[in-house]
Amino acid sequence: MNEKDIFAKCDTDGGYFGMFRAQGDRYYTMPVMESVPGKIMRFDGKDCLMWSINNYLGLAENEEIKQAAADAIQEWGVSGPMGSRMMSGNTVDHIELEQSLAAFANKESAILFNFGYLGVIGTIASLVGPDDVIVIDKLDHASIIDATFGAVSGRNQIHAFRHNDMNHLEKVLKKVNETRKAGVLVLTEGVYGMTGDIANLKDITALKDRYDARLFIDDAHGVGVMGKTGRGTGEHFGVQDQIDVYFATFAKAFASIGGFSAASKNVVEWIRYNARTQIFAKSLPMIYVKSLKKTLQLVEDGQDRRKRLFDIAAKLSAGLSELGFYVGKVESPIVPVFMPDGETGTAMEWIHYLREKGIFVTGVSYPVIPRGFVMFRMIPTASHDDADVERTVAAFKSLRDDKNIQLSADNSEISRLYGGSQHA
Ligand SMILES: Cc1ncc(COP(=O)(O)O)c(C=O)c1O
Repeated sequence: MNEKDIFAKCDTDGGYFGMFRAQGDRYYTMPVMESVPGKIMRFDGKDCLMWSINNYLGLAENEEIKQAAADAIQEWGVSGPMGSRMMSGNTVDHIELEQSLAAFANKESAILFNFGYLGVIGTIASLVGPDDVIVIDKLDHASIIDATFGAVSGRNQIHAFRHNDMNHLEKVLKKVNETRKAGVLVLTEGVYGMTGDIANLKDITALKDRYDARLFIDDAHGVGVMGKTGRGTGEHFGVQDQIDVYFATFAKAFASIGGFSAASKNVVEWIRYNARTQIFAKSLPMIYVKSLKKTLQLVEDGQDRRKRLFDIAAKLSAGLSELGFYVGKVESPIVPVFMPDGETGTAMEWIHYLREKGIFVTGVSYPVIPRGFVMFRMIPTASHDDADVERTVAAFKSLRDDKNIQLSADNSEISRLYGGSQHA
């Protein structure tokens, strides 16, 4: 390999998912979907029951939202308004949507971003100065990690605590306070999107107050889903007031694109004038702004959808654990199914088997979950029904029997992290 050529690595199987890239895979990584999002999706020439998209409330298929988008396109085209918010891309609709989102999040103010990823980065980078300290959960999403490394001047200002381990968080905050020169920002997710467990926000909010820190919550997977009225993980724990910056993306339950940060008025205005990922980017097109107004209404009125979502999650979880699969006992609707990871390739063989039976799942492995396991992260939606659950449980039963999967591995580490149950 010619190390002086920056492209030399591209001919190797290094880098993320390198083996798949080298093989030109489009089955396990970057699978090519052949239909629009919904509970049934066409893949590899076959209609599959989809358990892998974050369409929690089933709004991706919603006709009212589609109509609002079609009306917006008719008037504004696909790009309007043009320019950044700062220059020529601001409209009354953007401002109204922000006001509605602020009210929804129970905060004074909110700011829109074009992508969740850029919202996390823009918000954190605008708030954190070179002398500030950042405290993250080890399993925080890539956007938080990327924002973190760009925000402070040295790696010694970044401290990670063990996933959802409150004793460790307290230890870290205590230590940070001994030498701090400036502010401290704690960053966690609300619902951990990969594993479905939720941040212990009761303790986290208490600790951040005790140690005089600020708290940013990325509730990408909690918004619209958690809490009595879908206002997210803060509402679920009754601590929304104590979250200093509440962030959510529209890419999951809202089935759209973009995101928002909500906080006190001064903080949001600071972000608005300092978040480079939005100041130097074209504003969110009206097709999204207008349709998101409709979406927000449906999310707010989404009690029935949320009830169905949690009902499906509970049935799927019970059905699979009765078969002997180890299912994490999480409070979000995500159903994490842990299986002992055999030799390399076993998990892929299982995924292939299920997809051939018309059940679309994806797998997650170390370092997201402990070594020795593969996890099928199943995502129920309000569009699924009881028959879908039965069909899926039957497919897992034949997978277990045909592939002779031994389910009696030592699950203590999984159990410590994710609770969970296994009947057989
Ligand atoms: C926890 C979390 N934060 C942020 C993002 C980024 O959001 P978006 O897809 O809207 O860019 C995601 C999406 O995968 C996520 O899961």
